Amino acid sequence: MERTKIGVFDSGLGGLTVLNEICKYNTGLEITYFGDTARVPYGSRTPETIARYAEQDVRFLLSRGVEAIVIACGTVSATCLDRLQSLYRIPILGVIAPAAKEAANMTKTGHIGVLGTKATVQSGAYAKELERVRSGLTITGIACPLFVPLIENGFSERDPITELTIERYLSPIRNTDTDTLILGCTHYPFLAEGIGTYLPGVKLLNIGTALAKTLRETIPIRACDERSTVSYFVSDDDIAFQTIANAHLDAIAATDLKKINIEAY
Ligand code: DGL
Repeated sequence: MERTKIGVFDSGLGGLTVLNEICKYNTGLEITYFGDTARVPYGSRTPETIARYAEQDVRFLLSRGVEAIVIACGTVSATCLDRLQSLYRIPILGVIAPAAKEAANMTKTGHIGVLGTKATVQSGAYAKELERVRSGLTITGIACPLFVPLIENGFSERDPITELTIERYLSPIRNTDTDTLILGCTHYPFLAEGIGTYLPGVKLLNIGTALAKTLRETIPIRACDERSTVSYFVSDDDIAFQTIANAHLDAIAATDLKKINIEAY
């Protein structure tokens, strides 16, 4: 049986946390992963710029013959999912809807925290989707713009600078009734241990897991028991990409990165 070809993209290596979960929960996929390492971060840019980058990312993946695309980026999902879905004919999935559904089921207190990039938090996309699936929730959104550069530059979660940054962003929800925290940017699972230590008792939601578990409900995947395969593309040389991916992710090995000129798409 021919494998189902899907494309997965992010601004950089954050989407690898989604890819890892997709490979854990789904067999028989032929995946093309694109990390826009030349233009990361997306989260501090305007929605217009993010949309322009995302359209080029999608056009590159389409050139590879993919049958569906997963936006493994909270920022793109929050700011231009509808636009991408209206421009292109294949199924295009974002990370927000599956995460909101799962978080709404997980919370007992009804107070959910949402961490994300500036663009994601300003868009209010998680709050809107959470309100749609379960009304009456209390939602606290926190923009954490320093997390992505720390991760992309290889700072570990035990580094004092990372610990201070976690404290700076998350102190407003420590010792509150927030019991569920959406790691609303796909880079953030790389800091999950540090965040979990700072917020004991709070359940952390990896948005990649929520998406991967429900992938078959939203895109037609042909039955095939073989392990999924991945081809990696980036827009700039990036040593951290491989090192971090291979150190932290269990389901995939990021080898043989090919560089493309994304501005040509
Ligand atoms: N990993 C991305 C996200 O999920 C984007 C981070 C960035 O480029 O700012 O939002």
